[in-house]
Amino acid sequence: MKPRILVTKRIPEAGLKRLAEVFEVHLNEEERPLSHTEILHLIPGFDALLCLLTDRVDADVIRAGKHLKCISNYAVGFNNIDLEAARSQSIIVCNTPGVLTETTADLAWALLMAAARLIPESDSFVRNNLFTGWEPMLHLGMDIHGKRLGLIGMGRIGIAMAHRALGFNMQIQYYEQDDYSPPSGLKATKTDLETLLKTSDFISIHTPLTPETKHLIGTEQFSMMKPTAVLVNTARGAILDEKALVQALLDRTIFAAGLDVYEYEPELVSGLKDLPNAVLVAHIGSASIETRTRMAMLAAENAIAVIEGKEPPAGVI
Ligand code: DGY
Repeated sequence: MKPRILVTKRIPEAGLKRLAEVFEVHLNEEERPLSHTEILHLIPGFDALLCLLTDRVDADVIRAGKHLKCISNYAVGFNNIDLEAARSQSIIVCNTPGVLTETTADLAWALLMAAARLIPESDSFVRNNLFTGWEPMLHLGMDIHGKRLGLIGMGRIGIAMAHRALGFNMQIQYYEQDDYSPPSGLKATKTDLETLLKTSDFISIHTPLTPETKHLIGTEQFSMMKPTAVLVNTARGAILDEKALVQALLDRTIFAAGLDVYEYEPELVSGLKDLPNAVLVAHIGSASIETRTRMAMLAAENAIAVIEGKEPPAGVI
């Protein structure tokens, strides 16, 4: 009899096919995600779980997963999973690092450019027939080339951002709590958070959400930033205090922001949608056809390796 895996939402076909070689796959075919209660009821019958970053895999789910050997998260971030609870039941947790690095950096860079150059604002201006001709003072944004980029978090995606910044002749500085050096060719300077906030023209967040990074950037931090600063967040929404962000954008404490992630997804904090200087997209950092397929394959290989008693390619614990 094949081991059983619960896949909480449809992922690219290649991953499902690979899983089916080893597992009896139970796929949630519905448009809507499974609720926490549904996962709780289903999980006792499964040996492995392939879940999304939106599935809360807490101690209750893990305790109910009596036969669970692997939790394979279809994401690099794993703040949705209670690692302690998994560890206490010797369940191996895996994620999808590496395969989405460049795609997420592409999106972060797109947000940086769109926010700096007011692209969505100008786009809707044209669509709404407001464009009556070239004007000296129309939609003036911020230059990007030659400016200073501050990266909060210098892991894989932070480094990929730094590579892009080099092409724009930017100076790069970063804040990183882990003790390692990025490639020297990037000429990136390590700095403390306060200096980064005060001196960067662009600030992009690439750190995981942990109790230490929750609301890392709030009112006090916004007040340190340049009034011309552009902030980008493609990591996790809760790293920002979004109410403070709305205020900072409203009273022009900072120039603009580009956001892919939100603390209470899919809900947005009040006022955010009304701000012309906020560029908002729907958690699409890794959303390219190629990358989502690579994530599906890696998530599948992770689950298969664990069930076959092998080291998974991307184990978290
Ligand atoms: C992740 O993987 O953590 C991203 O947020 C979605 O791909």
